[in-house]
Amino acid sequence: MFQIAPSILAADFNCLGKQLQEVEKADVRVLHLDVMDGVFVPSISFGMPVIASIRKESNLFFDVHLMVQNPIRYIKDFVKAGADSITVHSEACDDIASTIQEIKCFGVKTGLAINPETPVDAIKPYLPMVDMVLVMSVHPGFGGQKLIPETLKKIEELYQIREESNLCYNIEVDGGVNAQNISEIVSLGTDIAVAGTAVFGGDISANLEKIREVVADAS
Ligand code: DX5
Ligand code: ZN
Repeated sequence: MFQIAPSILAADFNCLGKQLQEVEKADVRVLHLDVMDGVFVPSISFGMPVIASIRKESNLFFDVHLMVQNPIRYIKDFVKAGADSITVHSEACDDIASTIQEIKCFGVKTGLAINPETPVDAIKPYLPMVDMVLVMSVHPGFGGQKLIPETLKKIEELYQIREESNLCYNIEVDGGVNAQNISEIVSLGTDIAVAGTAVFGGDISANLEKIREVVADAS
């Protein structure tokens, strides 16, 4: 079933707990957590302590998106902090297979992300190993950007490969998702769409309701 995963990058950190309660009340199941290291991407966001702190109050599925260079170094720490799923960037790993293996060893779900300029072909050998593929629809590093339409063809490509090769990864799309473009994103075969600004910008429950209405009309 299609899921919308709010990204807390766009939340008001001064009242994060309250905003997360609102998200949970609106029947959201997946929370997207954007970790940025200032090396793989220009910006720095938050790390293990913030995730560990909200883990104490939340039963949501924690979808941790590591925009971190050489992420194998931190897998254990993010599992300890409460991640249910860890997604690493193919462009950031010295050894993609070992990094995925490391995540699997800790018993959490594995995700592999590709930047807008990275083709699906670059990660094809790893598709049988992962639970999720994250298609970046903006250049990673900042919330509130405009979706790059050319990236959406990778959703169809991943959908086709999954059908043809009998694989079972979920397809996640991240960046610039809003009520205006979500029906196209869903119709192409997306399983999980991340939305930061479109959820946390303004009235959270009204924003989620609007997105859900559009999705329901499209399916
Ligand atoms: C970008 C992050 C995204 C982003 C989504 O580097 O991975 O998750 O925060 O935010 P919006 O929906 O505002 O583009
Ligand atoms: Zn993200």
